[in-house]
Amino acid sequence: MKNSGAVIFDLDGIVVDTTGLQFLAWRKIANDFGFDFSKDQNEGLKGLSREDCLKQILAWGNIKLSVKDFHKWMDIKNSYYLNYIYEMDASAILPGTLELMDVLQEENIPFALGSASKSGKIVLKQLGIYSRFDAVVDGNDVKNGKPDPEIFLLAANRLGFAPSACVVFEDAVAGVQAANRAGMISIGVGNKGLQKEADFTFNNLTEVTREFLQNFLLFQS
Ligand code: BG6
Ligand code: MG
Repeated sequence: MKNSGAVIFDLDGIVVDTTGLQFLAWRKIANDFGFDFSKDQNEGLKGLSREDCLKQILAWGNIKLSVKDFHKWMDIKNSYYLNYIYEMDASAILPGTLELMDVLQEENIPFALGSASKSGKIVLKQLGIYSRFDAVVDGNDVKNGKPDPEIFLLAANRLGFAPSACVVFEDAVAGVQAANRAGMISIGVGNKGLQKEADFTFNNLTEVTREFLQNFLLFQS
C-alpha cells in the first residue's frame, strides 16, 4: 500500500514548547536597548526568521544599526536562546507530538521539519528526536523566511512529494501563510487567530485524529 501524502511540522510551538524561550531571548535584546515589548507584539514575531525578528524589534525601538552591529546582535540573541535550549529536555515536547509521529510512522507517512529557526537541528538533537524525521529543513537551509513558501517547498522536495500532497502543522500566522502560498493543506494549532487563514484549526496536537489525517494522507487501498 503506497501512502498518498506527507506531513511537515513547524518546530517552535508545534513540536516543542519553545515559543516562551524565543520570547525571552528577544525580550532580553529589547531590554539591552532600553525598551520592552508585549506578548501581543510577540505574536507578530512568531514564525519569522531571526533577521526579520530583529528588524521588527529595532523598528519598535526606533533603533538603527550598522550591518556589522546588526549581525552582532543576531549572534547575541542566539547565545541567549541557546542557553535556554541546552537546559531543555524531552519534557518540553508538546502534548500529542510524539503520539502523532507514532501514527504517521505506523501508516508509513513520511514527515519533515520545516522551521525558520537556525537552531532547528540543534533543538531536535537536544530532544533526542532528530532521527525520527525523514527530512529536516531549518533556517540555515533557505534564503527566504516565512511567509515565503521556500522552507515548506524545500521540505516537500526533500521528502519527494508534490506540495499539494503535503499537510503542514503551524502555530504562526506567517507559517500558515507560507503553507498556503506553497499550495499545501494548512493546519493552524493553538491560536484562535489562525482560524481566518488556515484550512483547519486545532487547540493542540492531541486533537488530531487518525481519522482526520485519513482525509488527506493515508490508507489508499
Ligand atoms: C521561529 C520562531 O521558529 O524561529 C521565531 O517562531 C524565531 O520566534 C525564529 O525568532 C528564528 O529563530 P532562531 O533560533 O533562528 O533565532
Ligand atoms: Mg512556530
